[in-house]
Amino acid sequence: MDLVIRNASLPDGSSGVNIGIEDGRIAAIGAGIAMQGAQEIDAAGDLVTPPFVDAHFHMDATLSYGLPRVNASGTLLEGIALWGELKPELTQQALVERALQYCDWAVGRGLLAIRSHVDICDDRLLAVEALLHVREKVAPYLDLQLVAFPQDGVLRSPTAFANLQRAIAMGVDVVGGIPHFERTMADGAESVRLLCEFAAEKGLRVDMHCDESDDPLSRHIETLAYHTQRLGLQGRVAGSHLTSMHSMDNYYVSKLLPLIKEAGVAAIANPLINITLQGRHDSYPKRRGMTRVPEMLAAGIDVAFGHDCVMDPWYSLGSGDMLEVAHMGLHVAQMTGQEAMRDCFRAVTETPARILGLDGYGLQVGCHADLVLLDAADPIEAIRLRAARRFVIRRGKVLSQAPAARASLNLPGRPQTVNFRLGR
Ligand code: FE2
Repeated sequence: MDLVIRNASLPDGSSGVNIGIEDGRIAAIGAGIAMQGAQEIDAAGDLVTPPFVDAHFHMDATLSYGLPRVNASGTLLEGIALWGELKPELTQQALVERALQYCDWAVGRGLLAIRSHVDICDDRLLAVEALLHVREKVAPYLDLQLVAFPQDGVLRSPTAFANLQRAIAMGVDVVGGIPHFERTMADGAESVRLLCEFAAEKGLRVDMHCDESDDPLSRHIETLAYHTQRLGLQGRVAGSHLTSMHSMDNYYVSKLLPLIKEAGVAAIANPLINITLQGRHDSYPKRRGMTRVPEMLAAGIDVAFGHDCVMDPWYSLGSGDMLEVAHMGLHVAQMTGQEAMRDCFRAVTETPARILGLDGYGLQVGCHADLVLLDAADPIEAIRLRAARRFVIRRGKVLSQAPAARASLNLPGRPQTVNFRLGR
């Protein structure tokens, strides 16, 4: 074997597993299988997982924090206005540099696949060109999937649909939308129809910003599920954010969840962003700004967590750490049961991999040897500690290494090193 990882624990709870890698793929995997490698890594019982996957990001805006000014109110609408101020100032070189820097951060965090929306409302399509260039440049180490995103509304902005078609012709992968930002509910519904029909005609996936609002009557997810089913797009459509579902009437949700399931529409929640942006018109009690994650999981709907933003007009924090995203999602959705916490780990690994349609993702023989060794025993400890990514491996090659998190203590009669892991 080219590389052998010994004594790993896997997210499914199995332990003592050896993983043999040849020609960039997993050639053998199992407990107690004898194998020899040209290179060997001793996992010492720690968790090996397929890489983190971010199903929802905005790489054209990332790391632009403070340009041209900071978001004073911290609201979604000021963020959109600020992005509008920044757009005319953007240069392709600056976009590429910031995106590449973010991809470096992602690799260091074991995040090796990202679906990024790219705003197509600027007629120059500068950001599209820049991110297509970045997609090609990072392809050896990171899968970047691009969504043509009409930030100003595909109907509300006069050139948006033509730009969206141009972006797709240039090689952008997925059709985006933002129905709740159109001028009327009727226009929102019409935008969903238009975009789903376009995607069906082109054989593309769909991922819309959908109902990112506290308005319980924002019901574009229903229309998205309807057109998905009508056009045979099952399994290829995602609704991102879906925060209005948080505020919807429970009876209506009891009808809606089976419709989403039946249509095979996936949900992508963005806990870090929506816990800060939603509920801003409330006094007290303030609503949590996240869609109904446990209820959707119970209904059999695929739910992923996205990072959405890192240091941009909408969010001033973040560092590409999907364990931080899972940690926030777990808290906001009160998913503290053992299986629920494992669901949060799945929401930043295997579920988004399925939503993106990633080929060869997983831990079976024949899958790409894309693996992350964490300084944690299992998915729950990984989330608790936002565990260090000891090794990040892509196609059998080590891309990144980081030390385990340890502190040296200077206490009378106590151990000199502490590692924050029970029993170690
Ligand atoms: Fe977004």
